[in-house]
Amino acid sequence: MTPPPALALQALHKRFGATEVVCGVDLSIQPGERVALIGPNGAGKSTLFNLISGHAKPSAGTVQLHGRQISGLQPFAIARLGLARSFQMTNVFPQLSVYENLRCSVLWSLGYGYSFLRLLGSLRGATARTDALLERVGLTAQAHTKAAYLPYAQQRALELGITLGSGADVVLLDEPTAGMNRSEAAYFTDLIRSATAGKTLLLVEHDMDVVADLADKIAVLVQGRIIAFGPPHAVRDDPVVQAAYLGVAI
Ligand SMILES: Nc1ncnc2c1ncn2[C@@H]1O[C@H](COP(=O)(O)OP(=O)(O)OP(=O)(O)O)[C@@H](O)[C@H]1O
Ligand SMILES: [Mg+2]
Repeated sequence: MTPPPALALQALHKRFGATEVVCGVDLSIQPGERVALIGPNGAGKSTLFNLISGHAKPSAGTVQLHGRQISGLQPFAIARLGLARSFQMTNVFPQLSVYENLRCSVLWSLGYGYSFLRLLGSLRGATARTDALLERVGLTAQAHTKAAYLPYAQQRALELGITLGSGADVVLLDEPTAGMNRSEAAYFTDLIRSATAGKTLLLVEHDMDVVADLADKIAVLVQGRIIAFGPPHAVRDDPVVQAAYLGVAI
């Protein structure tokens, strides 16, 4: 039997007052697939992420994670079911070291705050997982550096590590290379690829070099609708996409 999609959006709508921002989105992402969500400013990409991660409620439609309906659940409940979403620097404690930040994220995912006894039993596992996470995001040498003192690209690497600390297998990244120069973006693209190996990835990205480097498939969102979804070459050659992006090189 084929497994259900890692993520399935069905007839998803979101209205803010009289304005419909997401207008009937259907999208299926298979386990292990890497999908770039592209589209003009204001197309509804971040709103779509909010609907998936539980930070906004759909006006209509459903979201399923591995065949289980998650729309309507709270963000922490969705996170516990294996979906992680990055927020730019909002989950980094600047006064803690890199190691402490990653350890907090691992402990949280192991149930810290829910059961102290359960936590005691899993401390040994937490240390091993924190060490593995440090290596995964290339920050072993900076383990004892305060987060506030890291250069920009490494702060973003730490943020990625915190996002991955939950052990989630479906990862949402909203404009991960925003604010980076060419070489930082190239470094970070490599890091995303290696750190999320084997996971399902959905990323919003404006930088087409990053998209070309990372994505197996591209979904194009324009005015709340997916107008194309497929392998990069097919999407790039699609006349509907070219018309929507007239004057913009993709
Ligand atoms: N909470 C809200 N209340 C009202 N309107 C909103 C709200 N959140 C987003 N919008 C509107 O929804 C539309 C889509 O916004 P969204 O942030 O999802 O776009 P985006 O594709 O992520 O754009 P960008 O590329 O600029 O990040 C915009 O017109 C925005 O003003
Ligand atoms: Mg956005």
